[in-house]
Amino acid sequence: MIDSMEFRRVLGHYPTGVCVVSAMDGGTPVGMVVGSFTSVSLDPPLVAFLPDRKSTSWPRIERAKRFSVNILSTHQQAVCQALSSKAGDKFGAIDYRLADCGLPVIEGIVAWIACDLEAVHDAGDHFIAIGRAQSLSVASEHMPLLFFQGRYGQFSPFVERLQRMDKEA
Ligand SMILES: Cc1cc2nc3c(=O)[nH]c(=O)nc-3n(C[C@H](O)[C@H](O)[C@H](O)COP(=O)(O)O)c2cc1C
Repeated sequence: MIDSMEFRRVLGHYPTGVCVVSAMDGGTPVGMVVGSFTSVSLDPPLVAFLPDRKSTSWPRIERAKRFSVNILSTHQQAVCQALSSKAGDKFGAIDYRLADCGLPVIEGIVAWIACDLEAVHDAGDHFIAIGRAQSLSVASEHMPLLFFQGRYGQFSPFVERLQRMDKEA
């Protein structure tokens, strides 16, 4: 038997990026923060994320059959907080536009990927949602927001760290 707290603690040692998966439900934008986003296949171009069975946003995204993945940047912790909440109108204070494909794209993100929902697989207390990329773009030069052991941070390449250590020495 694996203790669930220990499972979380150990798996928390693996860092992730932070994305908002969003869709239009009727005329209303819906979205949720995920750390489980990953690329899956180049040919065909598939991506995936893992929605919790308890998520209230996921059934609305699934119903829309299309979603956009918004890769959050380091200055977007407030966006992350809003979109990971259970608030009714999560997009109320979010600056976003609709891309040509009609999906919500949040201003200030690193990049976005617009997908058709290709498949949904059962995976314990989560689902594995597979999307087929239809359009995508790098949106800015911002650095991506990272999540590690319950805290947010940013990427720091070794070379810069070594240069800093050189200067400090
Ligand atoms: C950094 C971070 C990563 C998260 N990753 C996931 C994830 O991969 N899958 C998921 O279902 N929820 C994830 N969540 C939680 C959801 O964002 C949150 O529970 C959900 O949006 C709650 O609202 P909902 O009921 O509208 O879905 C994450 C939250 C944070 C802050």
